[in-house]
Amino acid sequence: MIPDNVIEEIKVRNDIADVIGTYVTLKRAGSNMNGLCPFHNEKTPSFTVFNGTQSFYCFGCGAAGDVVTFIRKIENLDYVEALRFLAKRSGVNIPEEEQSGGVRRTRIYEMNKAAARFFRSQLLSSSEAKEYIVKRGLDKRTVDRFGLGYSGTRGFELINHLKELGYTEDEMVVAKLAGKGERGYYPFFRNRVMFPIIDTAGAILGFGGRVMDNSLPKYLNTPDTPAFNKGRNLFALNYAKDNCKECLILCEGYMDVIAMHAAGFTNAVATLGTALTQEQARLIKRYTSKVILSYDGDRAGKAATDRASKILTEVGIDVRILQVSGAKDPDEYIKAYGADAFARLIKGSETKFDFVLKGVLAKYDVATDDGKIKASKELCSEIATVDSAVERELYIHKTSKELGISRESVEGDVKKALRLKNRERAGAFEKKLQNKALGIGDKINPEHSANPKAVAAEEAILGIMMLYPERTAEIAEGKTELSEDDFVTGFNKRVFSALIKLYSEGKRDVGALGAEFTQEEMNRVYEIQVKRNGLDSQSETVLKDNLYALKNAKAALETDIDKIIKAKLMGS
Ligand code: UTP
Ligand code: MN
Repeated sequence: MIPDNVIEEIKVRNDIADVIGTYVTLKRAGSNMNGLCPFHNEKTPSFTVFNGTQSFYCFGCGAAGDVVTFIRKIENLDYVEALRFLAKRSGVNIPEEEQSGGVRRTRIYEMNKAAARFFRSQLLSSSEAKEYIVKRGLDKRTVDRFGLGYSGTRGFELINHLKELGYTEDEMVVAKLAGKGERGYYPFFRNRVMFPIIDTAGAILGFGGRVMDNSLPKYLNTPDTPAFNKGRNLFALNYAKDNCKECLILCEGYMDVIAMHAAGFTNAVATLGTALTQEQARLIKRYTSKVILSYDGDRAGKAATDRASKILTEVGIDVRILQVSGAKDPDEYIKAYGADAFARLIKGSETKFDFVLKGVLAKYDVATDDGKIKASKELCSEIATVDSAVERELYIHKTSKELGISRESVEGDVKKALRLKNRERAGAFEKKLQNKALGIGDKINPEHSANPKAVAAEEAILGIMMLYPERTAEIAEGKTELSEDDFVTGFNKRVFSALIKLYSEGKRDVGALGAEFTQEEMNRVYEIQVKRNGLDSQSETVLKDNLYALKNAKAALETDIDKIIKAKLMGS
């Protein structure tokens, strides 16, 4: 762990408006600053930076936090990495001994490196694995470049090897190279071809392992560890990052990426066995602004293309879609038709609209009236999703030509579709606000919807505690009638206790709660704080009022429970 005093220094030296100002153009708005939120697409600024509390909050998407949270989100880093990033930025020295899960992250990297080396040596000594590699068309250069290996038939070979190198079995469990069951430790990977997952700094984060026959699961991936998160990394980005300025090719499978690199397309990466996440999209955005989606040709691949295209567009990436035909996936396509043919596919990759257009033309017979109507309907609603008016005009033109319908009619239908979309959006937004007020669908505090009054009072109290440390001091010293037992909902009770503990340790920085709360939970903590910002010039009175409101809500709740119990007893 990084010592508290160092964390404080890092925060003091990194003024939040300074730091955020390097990513977002901020304008002064009263005592705060605001700008366009970097975490969602918006045209009017709802992203606010509060200098007084050194925090930010987006009224549009709910992203919130302190300077560390901001860096975590925007640079795609974990807590400790974000602190290191800020330390470096401001010249603060961090003593070198951070711990994660009891095992240092760097130790996991070392262990993974030793494992990868061992897997390679196992590959060389297994004729079955060598045969499989040859069967898949992988030459020595490719095997070396990607550090492919073999886990050994039983997998225990690795455990013994790592033990010889001085790693304990418990450390292997943290790195998820081993598991622990009733009968002792067992290897995570058995009888699989191994694909190391390497980050942009060259560290081995984990592995994908493929069976060599048709057994299931086909691939096993290292689960999340203190050193690895599937949603935040991409396979082969370590190589692609230097070749993807013009564009990056995103595919579904390890084997697709490997085939592409072997064929000279060294700007290809893949997700790690899960659907593309926003974090991965932001990671990609750091290296390029154009992505060619090259997923499998089946229905699942098309659906995944749709979703990925949306996520990438949202972070401002220009998306093109490449479709393989006559082969199941890019790997098989390249094997069957060669690199030149694939290069032509890249050249011919199309916009999302053209991708949809092709699908629609294949689905309906547009020579018939019925086909024309259905096709036009789908295309118009697709055009309505496009932000740029210039693009919309181009697509309207195309639709009218392809379907043989007048431009004016298509344009009219697009306008209708746009209005409908806007209305739906406005409706959904209103509904969301309503639900939020009632606590419906509150995942952070699931007891919210059953106790809206209590939660309103709890949040007011917590907000005041964060903004006025002197009030918290009084509560901690027992000078008020408020205690943990007054809280109705578990989440807010946890925040309350954590705040009391924080203040009793002499700390004032809410960000320190980040060690005990997840990032989503911290968003809520900051939201609670931000909502009261500048509201309570009479914090003492407001605190008292809410304290009574909370006690009343709790008493009402208890009477309800009494009634239910009584009714049950009388009924039985
Ligand atoms: P595919 O089944 O398309 O695999 O899954 P592939 O990469 O083309 O491999 P080959 O050609 O059959 O050997 C695409 C990706 O989905 C993840 C892996 O990351 C794989 O590369 N996956 C697939 C899993 O994580 N687990 C599975 O059981 C299957
Ligand atoms: Mn494949």
